Amino acid sequence: MKGLIKTVVLVMLVSMVVSCKSNDKPNYQFFPNMYESPSYETYGEYDIFSDEQSALLPAEGTLARGHSFFEYKNTNEDYERAKAELTNPLEESEINLEKGKELYTIYCAICHGNNGDGQGTLVKREKILGIPNYADREITEGSIYHVIYYGKNAMGSHANFLNEEERWQVIAYVQKLRSELTK
Ligand code: HEC
Repeated sequence: MKGLIKTVVLVMLVSMVVSCKSNDKPNYQFFPNMYESPSYETYGEYDIFSDEQSALLPAEGTLARGHSFFEYKNTNEDYERAKAELTNPLEESEINLEKGKELYTIYCAICHGNNGDGQGTLVKREKILGIPNYADREITEGSIYHVIYYGKNAMGSHANFLNEEERWQVIAYVQKLRSELTK
């Protein structure tokens, strides 16, 4: 008799729990906020971001891994300062002209030409004017870095395309082209 009561109570309990399940709704969720996280679209505008940003800015004073602060500003004075004092931090053995050439061909040659004479495809097709021959400019490693970082007049910044090491590889290659042009 006791066994029968236990079975009946058990069946009732199980059916109570099971009957709570509805196929129209998600089942019982433990920590529902983990399942139902808000989904933000890339580039969407949301109240949680200040200043109409579509994403949060990095915390002030922080730096992405592999990057370092560039102490020179986008001014003529700091261009001159970089020109005078900034040098390639890569060791001789770390300089890879093949790599520099590859990056130069992708990012610079379209304007500056494969050998740096200022006769890139865009110049030949008269799409852009005022590209200098590297040989005609008093440029140094530091000034080239400044120009890659901030751009100069019609040349935009290329800082987003090249990481720090890649910039120095390109610079070593530009210096090589320049020395060949001034021979
Ligand atoms: C869209 C065309 C374009 C591209 C791409 C471009 N440049 Fe330039 N670059 C220019 C123009 C225009 C100038 C002349 C700027 C001026 O002095 O008015 C210039 C000038 C320069 C100078 C001389 C600046 C000085 O101090 O006198 C250097 C060095 C240079 N570019 C390097 C590069 C490197 C390295 C790349 C690739 C990472 C590159 N450029 C990509 C258009 C371009």
